[in-house]
Amino acid sequence: MKTAFLLLFPLIVSISSGNFSSISPSEETVFIPYQDHLEEVDGEKIYKKKCKWCHGREGDKTKKNVASLVKSQLMDDEKTDVVRNGRGSMPPFGEMLNEAEIDAVITYIGTFARP
Ligand code: HEC
Repeated sequence: MKTAFLLLFPLIVSISSGNFSSISPSEETVFIPYQDHLEEVDGEKIYKKKCKWCHGREGDKTKKNVASLVKSQLMDDEKTDVVRNGRGSMPPFGEMLNEAEIDAVITYIGTFARP
């Protein structure tokens, strides 16, 4: 926590005094716990906890209109959008997972893809 803050502090100062004055202080402070989290983030663990029960162990479960992660044609940023905001009967995870966790789970589901 301390290290992450020390590394980020100059950045925050330069953002708040620089050209990015539109970023509000509350938005800056949420980055600190995210950074603090980075080392523990494990995409596979997140997948098994939050995604597997719908998408299956290898992303290939297709019943109940669940999209196949094996045959997905989406780019990573499109997948990120689906995970963050939900789509159809896929629930949104933007409130539950932070950016680093979403990135990690997107990288993990990328290993399922067999286009
Ligand atoms: C409640 C069941 C459920 C859970 C839990 C769930 N999904 Fe989904 N997911 C779906 C459904 C249903 C769709 C298809 C949505 C649609 O038809 O628009 C989908 C679609 C997707 C897609 C889009 C695939 C494509 O090619 O269109 C991605 C990527 C995805 N899910 C990733 C995830 C990840 C990562 C998690 C865990 C963080 C997760 N999902 C958790 C049900 C779920």
